[in-house]
Amino acid sequence: MCGISGAVGLKNISQVLFEGIRNLEYRGYDSCGVALMNKKRIVIKKDIGGVEEFYRKHNVLQMESKTGIAHTRWATHGKVTLENTHPFTSNEKNFAVVHNGIISNYRPLRDQLKKEGYKFFSETDTEILAHLLEKFYKSSRNVEKAFIKMLNIIEGTFALAFISSHLPDHIFCAKRESPLMLGIGDEVKFIGSDFNAFIDHTKNAVILDDGEYAILSRDAYVVKNILSKDEVIKPITKIEWDSETTKKGGYPHYMLKEIYEQPQTISTALDLEASGLDDIVDLFVESENVYLLGVGTTFYVAKYAKYIFSKIAKEFFPSISSDEFLALANVDKRSLVFSASQSGETYDTLSALKHAKSKGARTGAVVNVMGSSIARLVDKVVLQGSGPEICVISTKAALSQMVILTLIAMKLALKKKVITRKVYNTHLRALRELPEIIEGVLNERSGFIHRLANKYSSSRNWLYLGRGIYYPIALESALKMKEVAYVHAEGMPGGFLKHGTLAMIDDDIFSIVFVPPPEDKALYEATMHCIEEIRARSGFVLGIHFTQQGKNQDLYSEELILPKVPSLTAPLIQLVIGQLFAYFTATSLKRNVDKPRSLAKSVTVA
Ligand code: BG6
Repeated sequence: MCGISGAVGLKNISQVLFEGIRNLEYRGYDSCGVALMNKKRIVIKKDIGGVEEFYRKHNVLQMESKTGIAHTRWATHGKVTLENTHPFTSNEKNFAVVHNGIISNYRPLRDQLKKEGYKFFSETDTEILAHLLEKFYKSSRNVEKAFIKMLNIIEGTFALAFISSHLPDHIFCAKRESPLMLGIGDEVKFIGSDFNAFIDHTKNAVILDDGEYAILSRDAYVVKNILSKDEVIKPITKIEWDSETTKKGGYPHYMLKEIYEQPQTISTALDLEASGLDDIVDLFVESENVYLLGVGTTFYVAKYAKYIFSKIAKEFFPSISSDEFLALANVDKRSLVFSASQSGETYDTLSALKHAKSKGARTGAVVNVMGSSIARLVDKVVLQGSGPEICVISTKAALSQMVILTLIAMKLALKKKVITRKVYNTHLRALRELPEIIEGVLNERSGFIHRLANKYSSSRNWLYLGRGIYYPIALESALKMKEVAYVHAEGMPGGFLKHGTLAMIDDDIFSIVFVPPPEDKALYEATMHCIEEIRARSGFVLGIHFTQQGKNQDLYSEELILPKVPSLTAPLIQLVIGQLFAYFTATSLKRNVDKPRSLAKSVTVA
């Protein structure tokens, strides 16, 4: 996924473009570039690497311009090279284009353009857009007509923008599946892949829908339908975030800031209990079969929810990774497809939900970004209100989603009389204690976890084990270690170990076991068995548990003891430990914590 920003109207917009793509870097940071209009001539500056370094190296802030677009890239088509960096210009340099998405029919279009004499300089799909604009402008002598013609022959997904020396004080942009929005200021207009592109300059946004294009100038903007070319009147969306919340606030990394924000974000999630969630619960009540979806971290959120619904509501709702949904699920009008998504823009989840809708299924989602594509697509949405999650690695958003899905399961169980109001209130009390307990763990245990992570940061093979509802906790904690520390970690059900993986146990394998509270007797004892199996083969075990000091002293190679909590919230406390362990391992290995290599915050392409 890439980041697009643009501005028209200010005296010098290069500072605005810089802030715009720097705020979007979490969407992709392989390379970046800007196209600035300078006295009817388009000036292009681009390079591989991050935004800060680019602006320093190319001295871009000193360039005077009133109209420009910028782009930060996460490579999909074409390697990370200067030639493949956006923006791209037409051969006569009258058009400069940036794009996020995949133009699926770019090869035949490129072959045809080459036959007509157009010269290509990149391996990307995007470059054809600039040549098509030039080609169609030659025949129509009208930028908007050329734009419409191009939009009607390209296939695939796009958020794209261009500037043209034929209309130097305008920005043109269009959207299909990849996110794009306008920022409406006085005497200045912006475009961005999300609010962060212009949040420092205006809180008035216009969110484009699929199949719409927009033309912006300093004093005006118009949104039109690509097919009908009719103007579309769009509402102004007021952005609730402020730029401060998207800053690090004194933390060394967004990831640590966002881990430490979890007491607050869980409190915010719990506020939803009073505001109802009833319409969401009705979706579950009215459906005969339910699928829980997500990808990456949110797939593990969905997996966690599977156990929660089974444990609390006595309902079995399968969890499916969104990318596998089409291959696995058979949905119809009796179905509900419910997803978790931080960004609300992930292609795989969006596609799965669109497919579900096409089959008549009900759809719902819990998302963190208001106005996002998934939020606008589903029948019912829960806005989790966790605030911007800037680190590419999801922490606070996922934990809040798990809390919200627990609330939904509790309300469903109450509605179906599977639990009494008394049991409901017991669960609610446990959840309400969670923020303070997490606060305590963060303050009292993070130093110990930091030391553990430093001590074992040279370990290259981790096995994360959990039984029952601790299995998705093991999976998500292992994913954290892979994502941010680039260290191999495999999450596995504890009971699975003896069926093969045990053969792998030796001095080079480090196991982390998420041990339930002893009150969770069956799960606790089963978990202890898999620790004994490892230790019997002199494997290393880091036990994260709730029993008092020294009870199983000889059993663990290392142990981290947590405060006693109800079994409902114990897995969530364990997840916080998994997050911190990955974070401190990454810092000791000097990784790029907030922007790990090869990743993007939300993958909006297939
Ligand atoms: C991945 C991100 O690309 O997408 C993960 O790196 C995230 O952090 C996953 O969990 C799903 O994204 P979203 O926005 O749908 O939750």
